[in-house]
Amino acid sequence: MGRYEEVHGRSLADPNGFWGEAAEAIHWEKRWDKVLDDSNPPFTRWFTGGVLNTCYNALDRHVENGRADQAALIYDSPVTDTVKRFTYRELREVTARFAGALAAQGVGKGDRVIIYMPMVPEAAIAMLACARLGAVHSVVFGGFAANELATRIDDAKPKAIVSASCGIEVDRVIPYKPLLDAAIELSSHKPEHCLILQRPMERATMVAGRDLDMAEAVDAAAPHDCVPVAATDPLYILYTSGTTGEPKGIVRDNGGHAVALEWSMKNIYDVDPGETYWAASDVGWVVGHSYIVYAPLFHGCSSILYEGKPVGTPDPGAFWRVISEHGCSTMFTAPTAFRAIRQQDPSGEHIAKYDLSKFRTLFLAGERCDPDTLHWAEEQLKVPVIDHWWQTETGWPIAANCLGIERLPIKPGSPTRAVPGWDVRVVDQSAKEVPRGTIGAIVCKLPLPPGMSPTLWNADARYKKAYLEEFPGYYKTADAGFIDEDGYISVMSRTDDIINVAGHRLSTGAMEEVLAAHPDVAECAVIGVHDQLKGQLPVGFLVLNAGVERGHGEIVDEVVGMVRKNIGPVAAFKIATVVKRLPKTRSGKILRGTMRAIADGEDHKVPATIDDPAVLGEIAESLKGIGYPKGA
Ligand code: COA
Ligand code: AMP
Repeated sequence: MGRYEEVHGRSLADPNGFWGEAAEAIHWEKRWDKVLDDSNPPFTRWFTGGVLNTCYNALDRHVENGRADQAALIYDSPVTDTVKRFTYRELREVTARFAGALAAQGVGKGDRVIIYMPMVPEAAIAMLACARLGAVHSVVFGGFAANELATRIDDAKPKAIVSASCGIEVDRVIPYKPLLDAAIELSSHKPEHCLILQRPMERATMVAGRDLDMAEAVDAAAPHDCVPVAATDPLYILYTSGTTGEPKGIVRDNGGHAVALEWSMKNIYDVDPGETYWAASDVGWVVGHSYIVYAPLFHGCSSILYEGKPVGTPDPGAFWRVISEHGCSTMFTAPTAFRAIRQQDPSGEHIAKYDLSKFRTLFLAGERCDPDTLHWAEEQLKVPVIDHWWQTETGWPIAANCLGIERLPIKPGSPTRAVPGWDVRVVDQSAKEVPRGTIGAIVCKLPLPPGMSPTLWNADARYKKAYLEEFPGYYKTADAGFIDEDGYISVMSRTDDIINVAGHRLSTGAMEEVLAAHPDVAECAVIGVHDQLKGQLPVGFLVLNAGVERGHGEIVDEVVGMVRKNIGPVAAFKIATVVKRLPKTRSGKILRGTMRAIADGEDHKVPATIDDPAVLGEIAESLKGIGYPKGA
């Protein structure tokens, strides 16, 4: 038996011993009574009775243990031409003051704070400051529109909101404050205060009595100490796309999260304290929470926070410049970023310009990694390229090549094997395991390891229904795929209406809700079609009301504008076509899978249950009109 199999086997056979040992790497104010607490099935809690502070583990203990002068956070912003390093001492100081500023506005343990910020250090500082106070942060990605922000305000009911005057997208200044104001206008719940970072490129107009200048508030504040919280208390809520327009509030607790993330840094990423680690993502996504902010800091690394893109800031050498300038050993990003770089620099001329001698490993996640992109990255960078699979819900990888345990052979197209703690199986619709190599629903046997979201915010029943009911005894990942003879997992597609656009998780159902609200639209469908760069792109199909005589182009432009306004530019919804009818089964279910196959130029069977097969020909004609399938 190899080392991986031994460790994975032990994690499942003795979760108490395994995670109890891992928890020794965390500072506890009071040790736990129980490691694994399954007293309220099907829910699992970890380290019940334990008391700790997440911010203390991320900052203070490193200051006290010899890392005070080491860089904790390196802010690298090609869009503002800035590089700023915060040592652990400096980051603790500014975080403690930020916590003081929030406390001065009445924020305390258990209160929610929404953070709607571009990729600036203050975003990470605000998260850590909430953790310091035992307050619950909820970061909302900057590419979401006011409406989405309003939904999250109403669900989380924040006492305060932290935001900025603007973000910068390559060379465009994107005002954030008008979106925040519009969201507060739309929401029923009103935060008492907003702390606004005034950036020099765009000054925000402040609402008297509600809005405070962040710099002034932090300067005036007294540093606040760490507030001990229960291991099972929530650290954050992160909203992610569900199958309807109503996002799911994924809850993360303090104790299990700290233990799992700290464990992952050595065992999965094979990174040591003191090294520079870079997750090129956004704090608005789970990757940003786990691997820009928390895990690298728990582990005593220097973490890079990058305000830029893989290309265009200023060129496709941007990533290599950052790696070489900061001596980065390990990087983590989405395959789409590499496809963007490859498109502009296919022979890797920019790579040759930089000293990447400290760079050891590239990790990719967020979407299926096509073998072509993996090979290109390996050839260009000459380091192992590790695909690994995870979800907002899990908070850390479910499948990976755990380099710190045993480096297994890489099979392109597979994120390797189940990470210790995760018992991954593939089942059919009756929850029966299927033979190796057969595609089915990927599920994880309960109990789920620490770090996994224990529930949804104020929605235990929705958590059970969404994840635990369809396959009793298992967590439904909503991904489909197979496990091969060697135990390698392949994740092929989602089983729900979630699509993955440039590594961003989006709900086609939510887009359909927006299209359906257009007064001329009788019926609609949105599908995710294959895209060379972004992996998938949403395409809308509109059936108009009888008697609508306006130009189709005009209506398409309007629905595109509506999705941008209601969901946000991140939806990347730019393509729609008007059709006479939608293909349906005799029971009225829209055949989205068949439409997608036609758009992608794949072989497909005409479903036996189809109401009228002639509709498929009409759909193919409409798709041809907008250039699908590509290259046909
Ligand atoms: N604030 C405001 N707007 C934002 C935004 C933010 N934080 N992030 C993205 N947007 C906007 C973009 O400007 C763009 O707007 P446009 O339609 O006006 O051009 C739109 O949302 C879509 O953005 P994106 O999908 O990022 O496309 P892009 O063409 O700007 O860039 C990539 C393409 C591949 C370079 C980019 O998506 C990328 O770097 N992806 C990596 C993804 C990633 O890190 N995922 C996290 C998981 S690891
Ligand atoms: P998110 O919650 O935004 O992280 O998105 C999670 C979803 O992204 C998963 O359910 C998968 O569908 C997809 N995903 C993430 N990583 C991978 C991967 N390495 N391979 C295949 N799909 C992935």
